[in-house]
Amino acid sequence: MNLFSLNDQVILVTGSSRGLGWEMAKAMAEAGATVILNGRDRELLSKRQTELEKAGLKSAIQAFDAANENEVLNGVQSIAEKHGQLDGLINNAGIQHRKPLQDFELSDYDRLMDVNLRGSFLLAREASKLMLEKSSGSIVNIASIMGPLGRKTISAYTTSKGGIVGLTKALAVELGPQGIRCNAIAPGFFATEMNTALVENQEFSDFIEGRTPLQRWGQPSEIAGAAVFLMSSAASYVNGHVLTVDGGLSSQV
Ligand SMILES: NC(=O)c1ccc[n+]([C@@H]2O[C@H](COP(=O)([O-])OP(=O)(O)OC[C@H]3O[C@@H](n4cnc5c(N)ncnc54)[C@H](OP(=O)(O)O)[C@@H]3O)[C@@H](O)[C@H]2O)c1
Repeated sequence: MNLFSLNDQVILVTGSSRGLGWEMAKAMAEAGATVILNGRDRELLSKRQTELEKAGLKSAIQAFDAANENEVLNGVQSIAEKHGQLDGLINNAGIQHRKPLQDFELSDYDRLMDVNLRGSFLLAREASKLMLEKSSGSIVNIASIMGPLGRKTISAYTTSKGGIVGLTKALAVELGPQGIRCNAIAPGFFATEMNTALVENQEFSDFIEGRTPLQRWGQPSEIAGAAVFLMSSAASYVNGHVLTVDGGLSSQV
């Protein structure tokens, strides 16, 4: 038995057109799942699907805004109709907004919370209804080390990711008795589009490399192993856990 196999599973990865979501989606498909790619850019999702097809991997596209209730309801309904099951959800879609507290517009705070936290709650609610039909499933929420830890200018983001950890614990407790596990991954600093400005900022890059025991940024593909583990039967007794993937950064004072 392959502990890490995801054969015959249907897994939705939100925000999987690029960055960490794309790497996790690819890894789900490589482990045998039919992965459902999501984001708001249909054209980019089609390109991604073609890449998976060329590699002989199974996928489908479900474009929707993770923060929009109607779009999420329709998206999950369409997964139910087309696939008849949903075994896994990775709540990855997320945005960042950097501003000093005094300049932070509430509209920007609301938009960020809608995508990062409310969207994850909504998707977990809808996906769990399909999982309950089989009394099994796995939800992986993407938190951040910037959840329990703070940095200047990202107060809304930190608040949303702290909320994700709370949501993870709450769902682990509520859904565990019904056969559904819920865990989170807390990434450190990965060189994705979200962090382009930081990667290009030499001073900041030096800071990250200096503070991280592994002395470098994370490569997006390095998130994939943790996601496959938490999704698979290798983690069958892991529930309510937050798995940090940060090169050791948050272990250092
Ligand atoms: N990169 C890091 O170092 C890091 C560290 C800790 C945590 N994280 C978390 O990891 C997740 C992915 O980050 P990333 O760096 O890969 O970001 P990214 O490169 O900016 O990619 C974000 C993905 O989410 C999608 N997305 C954004 N808003 C969406 C919405 N409303 N509905 C559906 N999809 C949406 C984007 O596609 P569209 O814009 O086309 O919709 C894209 O596919 C986020 O939750 C982030 O907070 C990242």
